[in-house]
Amino acid sequence: MTLDFAVNDAPATSTATTTPAPNRGKPTLPDAQTVTAVRHWTDWLFSFRVTRPPSLRFRSGEFVMIGLLGDNGKPLLRAYSIASPNWDDELEFYSIKVPDGPLTSKLQHIQVGDEIILRPKPVGTLVLDALLPGKRLWLLATGTGIAPFASLMRDPESYERYEQVIVMHTCRTADELAYGAELVEQLRDDPLLAEMYGEDFHKRLLYYPTTTREDSPRMGRITDNLTSGKVFADLDLPPMDPEHDRAMICGSLAFNIDVKAVLEGFGLREGANSEPREFVVEKAFVGEGI
Ligand SMILES: Cc1cc2nc3c(=O)[nH]c(=O)nc-3n(C[C@H](O)[C@H](O)[C@H](O)COP(=O)(O)OP(=O)(O)OC[C@H]3O[C@@H](n4cnc5c(N)ncnc54)[C@H](O)[C@@H]3O)c2cc1C
Ligand SMILES: NC(=O)c1ccc[n+]([C@@H]2O[C@H](COP(=O)([O-])OP(=O)(O)OC[C@H]3O[C@@H](n4cnc5c(N)ncnc54)[C@H](OP(=O)(O)O)[C@@H]3O)[C@@H](O)[C@H]2O)c1
Repeated sequence: MTLDFAVNDAPATSTATTTPAPNRGKPTLPDAQTVTAVRHWTDWLFSFRVTRPPSLRFRSGEFVMIGLLGDNGKPLLRAYSIASPNWDDELEFYSIKVPDGPLTSKLQHIQVGDEIILRPKPVGTLVLDALLPGKRLWLLATGTGIAPFASLMRDPESYERYEQVIVMHTCRTADELAYGAELVEQLRDDPLLAEMYGEDFHKRLLYYPTTTREDSPRMGRITDNLTSGKVFADLDLPPMDPEHDRAMICGSLAFNIDVKAVLEGFGLREGANSEPREFVVEKAFVGEGI
């Protein structure tokens, strides 16, 4: 599978990086990794790739602490889901740009060749091992919550364990869906996946993107599309049931709480690494929003 994007690929939405990068010319950081690609998707979102520490093993869906040196000379670290799958030679991340955020106000200016700090201790609940076997795996995300699912979508293990993987991703506007949309498109056209799972692989990876504050082909919150049954009707699937359906949730605290209640309404129970059940939850960020 080759899914690398070109270094400093420049789509229509790309934003020029003019501010000097934070680490260029400075001494090597502790746990340093080198940036190999940067892509800006909107004024608020970007993705980047870095070298992978040779000893780093992780399960698709886990997160690590990454960052830069702060003004005080100490590492300024934040949790980041690894967006690349565990077989990839590099690591990919998908990030918000918080204008006055301690880390991302600087991180958004990284360029190829710069270094970031990466603590090689992956953890997290959004892993396949935390779910019981089933037929369908639902990946439910808002905003940058798609990052851990970008890893799981690219992991053949997801398709080994489940007949269908269904990605519901909701953002306020359509441009914020582009990262996930492009990834799904690449996967559906991937010759290796077609070889492994047959020409109808596209039927095994279902994609349901919606917007809430801008007109687009599909609209509405994930909670509403689940409770109304619209998503099941649109995708020609039966309503969720605890025997066959498994789910992972990643968004704001409010989103996670509301989706959890919806899934429990279908009879699904929350699981964990230590006790696999029908769904797992992880916050895409801490706080109430910007
Ligand atoms: C388990 C976990 C995994 C995470 N994975 C990612 C990831 O893959 N990509 C990513 O961009 N962030 C992720 N985050 C959030 C990340 O840790 C930082 O909060 C983010 O990088 C902003 O850092 P900051 O220092 O600039 O601002 P902070 O001081 O950390 O945050 C400032 C404000 O921005 C809001 N905010 C922070 N992150 C986001 C976000 N992603 N989306 C919307 N609002 C946000 C917060 O609510 C807060 O009010 C994750 C957080 C957790 C707990
Ligand atoms: N100014 C800009 O151009 C810009 C662009 C992007 C992000 N931002 C900022 O970045 C911050 C994070 O934005 P975000 O869009 O990633 O996060 P968000 O505010 O959590 O919204 C992401 C998506 O989740 C939906 N959602 C929110 N709460 C939900 C819930 N309880 N149940 C179901 N769905 C829910 C939203 O629907 P609703 O629309 O119905 O709430 C939206 O479609 C925001 O505070 C925003 O101010 C600003």
